[in-house]
Amino acid sequence: MIDEVTKQRIIDSADIYEVVSDYVALKKRGVNYVGCCPFHNEKTGSFTVSPSKGIFKCFGCGKGGDVVHFIMEHDQLNYYDALRKLAARYNIKIEERELSAKEMQQRSERDGMLTLNTFAQKFFAEQLVHSDEGRSVGLSYLKNRGMDLDTIERFGLGYNPGGWDKLTQAAIAAGYKKEFLLKTGLSTETQKGTLVDRFHDRVMFPIKDSSGKVIAFGGRIMTADKKAAKYQNSPESDIYHKKMTLYGIDVARAEAVRADKCYLVEGYFDVISMYMKGVKNVVASSGTSLTVEQIHLLRRITPNVTVMYDGDSAGIHAALRGIDLLLKEGLNVRVVLMPDGEDPDSFAQNHTADEITEFISERETDFITFKTDMLLREAGRDPIERSRAIQDIIRTISLVPDHITRAVYAHRCAEIMKISEQDINIGVARLLKMSTGEASPVKREPKPIPVSESPVNDDNPKGASLETLCRYEESELLKALFVYGNRKMTLENNTILVSKYIINDLKGDDLLFYNPFYQKIMEEYDLHADEDEFDAVKYFANSEDGEIVSIIADLLSDKYELERIWFKKDEQEKKFIPPEGIENSPSLLAEHIVKLLNNFKFKRVTIKIKQIERKISDLSKEGNSAHVEMLEWMKRLMLLNEVKAALVVAMKRSAVQ
Ligand code: CTP
Ligand code: MN
Repeated sequence: MIDEVTKQRIIDSADIYEVVSDYVALKKRGVNYVGCCPFHNEKTGSFTVSPSKGIFKCFGCGKGGDVVHFIMEHDQLNYYDALRKLAARYNIKIEERELSAKEMQQRSERDGMLTLNTFAQKFFAEQLVHSDEGRSVGLSYLKNRGMDLDTIERFGLGYNPGGWDKLTQAAIAAGYKKEFLLKTGLSTETQKGTLVDRFHDRVMFPIKDSSGKVIAFGGRIMTADKKAAKYQNSPESDIYHKKMTLYGIDVARAEAVRADKCYLVEGYFDVISMYMKGVKNVVASSGTSLTVEQIHLLRRITPNVTVMYDGDSAGIHAALRGIDLLLKEGLNVRVVLMPDGEDPDSFAQNHTADEITEFISERETDFITFKTDMLLREAGRDPIERSRAIQDIIRTISLVPDHITRAVYAHRCAEIMKISEQDINIGVARLLKMSTGEASPVKREPKPIPVSESPVNDDNPKGASLETLCRYEESELLKALFVYGNRKMTLENNTILVSKYIINDLKGDDLLFYNPFYQKIMEEYDLHADEDEFDAVKYFANSEDGEIVSIIADLLSDKYELERIWFKKDEQEKKFIPPEGIENSPSLLAEHIVKLLNNFKFKRVTIKIKQIERKISDLSKEGNSAHVEMLEWMKRLMLLNEVKAALVVAMKRSAVQ
């Protein structure tokens, strides 16, 4: 282990020009150096080194990063071996050692628990693939259930062997403290005061937060022992709150943002089996009924949630319970019921990827159709049961916070139930009036301008990905965060840190970047934004994640400016160029930042509007049957047009000033 101080010393000492010169002939050009890229075959010099920024970048093949990444790439080394190589070149002595007990204590408790969990995850994974017991018991179990090695690795699955304390002993030998073993729940203490493992003879599922940190474990028993629980989970702790966790969110997130849709299933295997068949935007509530916290987590990613539960009656009732809660939180809910006797896991196992997609698109129904069908079927012809069912649906409709959406649902419900729309509306109104308590839907404001959120899954008209369409707007904003983040800006007599302003503004509108890496950077920045003197460039440029470093290199190099001059004659690209004098004027700075934010929002709203217009025009071809859906879209369109108009006014105002 190389400690943090030494790591920083190596990075500070290693001069990128010197190091690259060991391998590439560089010529000076302006403040930079150029040469022929060592990573791809070329005769022109697309490879640029910026000593002042400490980064390299090849405009030919796209590779870029700091000095450590240059060595990693060139010598095909991992991060720490690259550091060692640089240390050798600059005669820096590395004290290789395990963390001392004192250092462990100095780390914050959370960090200690997370580090231990990472260690445990690696230990379990190692046991699964490299120990005889792991292979013959754990791995063969997982293979029997259809898993391949890539998937096992992607989800970090593992195995905890029998015996009492294999993990506990390994962790203690590696220097981890008893305190953290107990706090994470990986170990429990016997009456004699010795530590033993919590999990035995189980395949282990690491449970991660949305940034991929291991916060807990679930373990499945492999024998049919009736007395032992099928699944055992880590206890609640400072880092793990079951009700705020969705299994698989780290993997599902990027795809769910892209597809603007997320599937909700019950269990670990459901998530993983769907993933293996290419359906990657899937998260699990892990068996318990869905909580409000989980819904909020989902809502940050997409408002479009499709509940995918077992087709048996327990599954149906779980789906029905979940729906009410999702609706109440303003999400757009759809349902896919699995064929009787199947769960998403078994269904995915038994069908091809194409069959699965087809099944979903055929069976997916909006919640009102689903619930109405279900309840009416259960009620049969019994008039009392029927009227109960109708009451139940009216109650559900009354939970929807937005009044126009409510009207749309009422219309649909009247159609299916063959009763008058007015009767339903009266029922809904009565319920709304009755519920004057805190959680009353009447008092709830409709969600604030969810510009980022639209249920349209269509691609944009030109077929470019949303990520590509918004690249300039997103990258310019991110760049501003890095260049100006630490500065103060003055807006309407308030002085605010630029980073705070940008982050809070985006959060306030629930806006996420389409580019998943940008989004990841933004979130990580947010975690550190409160630290005094947070040096973002240094922090991210030294990240162990090569992709992130390369993005930072892109942002801070002149790549985009060059592209703009060469390929983009478009006048409007000028809108990104900072005004003169911005260096010394907090109010000019504020103006620029607000402009970037508005540009970004404007782009997003414009895209959404185009998507919806297309959707409406498609629906209009379908005739009357699509009437209800069209109404819903038109309502959204109206809202978005209002947002757009407000943005235009704001943008004009700032252009005039
Ligand atoms: N679960 C849990 N603790 C339990 C039981 C269940 O955390 N004691 C969670 C797990 O996430 C599990 C999900 O609830 O995946 C669904 O439970 P269940 O339907 O019983 O299991 P399956 O997912 O079908 O598991 P398997 O296919 O392995 O039988
Ligand atoms: Mn199952």
